[in-house]
Amino acid sequence: MTGLIGTPPRAFGQGMNEPYARALRLGGGTLTLRPHGAVAAAVRGSGSGAGEVVFDVFGWCSEASALERNLLQGLEGPVLDIGCGPGRLLSAARSLGLTALGIDTSAEAVALACSRGSRALLQSVFWPVPQAGNWRSALLLDGNIGIGGNVGRLLRRSRQLITPQGTLLVEVDPDEGMDVAYHAVLEDLDGNLSVPFAWARTGRAGLESRAAAAGWAVSATERVQGRVFCRLSPLPDPARPGGRAPVGGRGRPARSNA
Ligand SMILES: C[S@@+](CC[C@H](N)C(=O)[O-])C[C@H]1O[C@@H](n2cnc3c(N)ncnc32)[C@H](O)[C@@H]1O
Repeated sequence: MTGLIGTPPRAFGQGMNEPYARALRLGGGTLTLRPHGAVAAAVRGSGSGAGEVVFDVFGWCSEASALERNLLQGLEGPVLDIGCGPGRLLSAARSLGLTALGIDTSAEAVALACSRGSRALLQSVFWPVPQAGNWRSALLLDGNIGIGGNVGRLLRRSRQLITPQGTLLVEVDPDEGMDVAYHAVLEDLDGNLSVPFAWARTGRAGLESRAAAAGWAVSATERVQGRVFCRLSPLPDPARPGGRAPVGGRGRPARSNA
């Protein structure tokens, strides 16, 4: 299922030589995310700077790992995978009996996810999302907390999507003090470059420092096989009877379309 309702400006790995789409078509190799521009990083706190990130595309195109399946097993459906890529987590969720939907700004990623039998929509998380406010679980894994280059904004947006009893599972940077926002480009092994796009990296401390203001409590942190996962639970919204967060669903878009 695809549903293109606009073209996002400067999305992850897109534009110019389209390294993300090429890599997904190949189903392998690595992609390197590099800070772009002279003053690439706006560093907050004790972060160690906006270094390069190397992504393993084969891993994204493969089956979910045992670790990832375990993480999913602890969640309730329906599950929203934000930035689902080619859909390995959606397939795993399905095989565990969880209803799941992916959203992603890459047409290749969405097509691959759908070709695996999953449900995925070609759209930004900042656009109206179906069933906003009713997702029992949402995922921001594989560095996806960096989407849009503003962790606080993405957390606030995620809060609008999830039910008051829900869980947001976020993978953070293994470096606890990492906390940077910058413009980046994506480059493949042949030197194909994307246009610059806004990105962020944060460790557990940076997530924790923004969680409450965005309506979340960090209820658990797990370090497994060099990866760090935080479970976030919605804080009650004092402004609303019953503690429901405001819902930005269909017909009520979030402010930005990035
Ligand atoms: C670091 S990759 C993670 C890949 C993915 N989790 C997987 O399993 O393959 C980031 C993903 O987020 C998607 N993305 C970037 N900006 C987005 C946005 N605003 N809304 C939804 N998805 C977005 C990208 O297209 C890309 O697939």
